Amino acid sequence: MSDNNKFKMLAKTLSGLEDLLAAELRSLGASDVKAMNRSAEFFGDKKMLYKANMHCRLATRILKQVKTFNATSSDELYHHVSQIKWDKLMRLSQTFAIDAVINYSEFNNSMFVAQKVKDAIADWFRAKYDKRPSVDIKRPNVRINIHIRAKKATLSLDSSGEALSKRGYRTEAGTAPLGEVLAAGIIELTRWDRASSFIDSMCGSGTFVIEAAQMARNMAPGLTRKGFGFMGWRDYDESILRDLVEEAQAAIKPNLDFKIVGSDIEPARIKEAMANAKRARVGKDIEFVCKSFEKQEPPPAPGVMVINPPYGERMVITRIDEFYTMIGDTLKQNYEGYNAFVLTSNLDSIKHVGLRTSQRVKLFNGPLECRLLKFEMYKGSRKEKYRNPEEKP
Ligand SMILES: C[S@@+](CC[C@H](N)C(=O)[O-])C[C@H]1O[C@@H](n2cnc3c(N)ncnc32)[C@H](O)[C@@H]1O
Repeated sequence: MSDNNKFKMLAKTLSGLEDLLAAELRSLGASDVKAMNRSAEFFGDKKMLYKANMHCRLATRILKQVKTFNATSSDELYHHVSQIKWDKLMRLSQTFAIDAVINYSEFNNSMFVAQKVKDAIADWFRAKYDKRPSVDIKRPNVRINIHIRAKKATLSLDSSGEALSKRGYRTEAGTAPLGEVLAAGIIELTRWDRASSFIDSMCGSGTFVIEAAQMARNMAPGLTRKGFGFMGWRDYDESILRDLVEEAQAAIKPNLDFKIVGSDIEPARIKEAMANAKRARVGKDIEFVCKSFEKQEPPPAPGVMVINPPYGERMVITRIDEFYTMIGDTLKQNYEGYNAFVLTSNLDSIKHVGLRTSQRVKLFNGPLECRLLKFEMYKGSRKEKYRNPEEKP
């Protein structure tokens, strides 16, 4: 890759996944990768941009930087946006939309910033062609991102279009589903080896098990998407994407020789999860079972169990503390030899699990602050290991 063709990009992600995203980008061949706040900056060429969109499991969007400038007033913002040669980036016949994000700046209204940028683009086209492209907020051909932090503005093109977390397989999602990027990030945080048992015994719409199966089969998450934002750009190179799709298809492992299991107490959830897994092309890799957590036997250890139980906020469960006690008891009885992970925002009830955590990671499930808690369920009679330090011996 010649350095002349390299440009700066920003992959956005969720809080707590930045270092994992940076590692993922490096493994894909990105250069000068730097983990930042809920994002990672990197450099690469057009192929790298397409590759990041196709393969990143931990990015929600990939932005291509167009210009950075000082923006301390609306006039300054308008002036700098008007300096860009917009017909190099989009056609008059195309639609566009602006996403504005502002932090600690003179501007306190992102709608106002988006409007100003839109006006500057529309006026630029009118001045040159006497016509302007239309805005389409829902399905624009070109999505433009303006980020203002303090006095510095960055204008970028959004190469992903619809968020990358919308993989396209989950059109059916029951109560309180997890985002796909968060689920993939949690699986990375478990350090699951992609070669031993994996179970989510409160699987809901199946996000964890579907992401796990796609990872284990080396299936690029972008393969199930309808399209990417960069496909609407003037410089779109179809042959690069075609080659990447072919390479990604060829890299898929045909089968798995270990078990991935998704179970849930609700028959409707299992039905949804099965339909989602089929759409994600991993239907045959996951065994779905309709059983309660208490009754579900996991596949042979070693393995990873991860659950996102009802928090008692979004879902109503009577006696939530007893529910978490049941989780702890079941882990002790059934999950020997497993590394068990529980994602919850219910920090009061989690004490009722009654097991010692060996790791706690702060994450956000939408607006909810959560913890991913790790419980190492040792094999043998090391019962001491399980004891909650707050309990008297
Ligand atoms: C927060 S949702 C999980 C969402 C899931 N991670 C997803 O992405 O769709 C919690 C799930 O736990 C299930 N559940 C509640 N109590 C259960 C129990 N005792 N045994 C098994 N599943 C249970 C619910 O049916 C629900 O689907």
